Amino acid sequence: MTATGAKPAGAVDEASAAAAVREMFDSIAPRYDLLNHVLSANVDRLWWRRTARRFRAVLAQPDAAVLDICCGTGDLTMALLKLRPQGARPILAADFSRAMLSRGAKKFAARKPGAPYAIPLEADALHLPLRDRSLDLIVTAFGFRNLANYEAGLREFHRVLKPGGQLGILDFSEPGGPIGKAYAVYFRRVLPAIGRLVCGKAGAYNYLPVSVGNFPPPGEMLELMRKAGYAECAWQPYTFGIAGLYTGERSAVA
Ligand SMILES: C[S@@+](CC[C@H](N)C(=O)[O-])C[C@H]1O[C@@H](n2cnc3c(N)ncnc32)[C@H](O)[C@@H]1O
Repeated sequence: MTATGAKPAGAVDEASAAAAVREMFDSIAPRYDLLNHVLSANVDRLWWRRTARRFRAVLAQPDAAVLDICCGTGDLTMALLKLRPQGARPILAADFSRAMLSRGAKKFAARKPGAPYAIPLEADALHLPLRDRSLDLIVTAFGFRNLANYEAGLREFHRVLKPGGQLGILDFSEPGGPIGKAYAVYFRRVLPAIGRLVCGKAGAYNYLPVSVGNFPPPGEMLELMRKAGYAECAWQPYTFGIAGLYTGERSAVA
């Protein structure tokens, strides 16, 4: 198993990889939502909603402590909030890019008074400012792949989950077969070109396909989760396996 973590161009160790990722997201934050919806033809919205629905039972509990880590501009958080009951405990929405998080914070603040809400938190996924065994649910969308150390990320999430707590990691993968081949052309050639055009920045959208190629395939990722102490580990492919949701739980006796 070779998986370690994200390796943006020029990064020589975990600290420089994390700094490069944060700077990249800070720089693309103003165009991030627009590009996301254009490049995915709005399928991203379906993926966030589907992920939220998978955790409907936990989200329906008013006292459930929920974290959306690597929340970026907050769209998964917004999908989670739709499934929270009136008066529910607020969701924590954390990211280490201030520029991304501040866009999410504006969306949370624009919610109707009295509606379930989210608290933005500037934090690093590998060093969460949260107590051991304090959360019922951690979800993350398209952020985990960017962590400088995947095993450390899984261990940190395990630390803060309560026994029986749930983990959901939504991220891209590389589908096989003819669909996979066609998608690879889009993902490796067309998408970076559009990203460059709209954002005026080459780095981030060249990095995207490279980071997906570097991310462990489902079998390996599930093995990493089991090694980190998760039970009931599974991967549910979304849209021909272009993306997929990893799920697991901290064992109830751990
Ligand atoms: C591709 S964006 C995804 C944002 C959002 N979850 C979504 O689905 O649109 C990845 C996010 O992960 C954040 N991120 C990457 N590594 C992180 C880390 N170590 N700690 C906190 N946030 C991190 C980035 O700042 C960025 O906002």
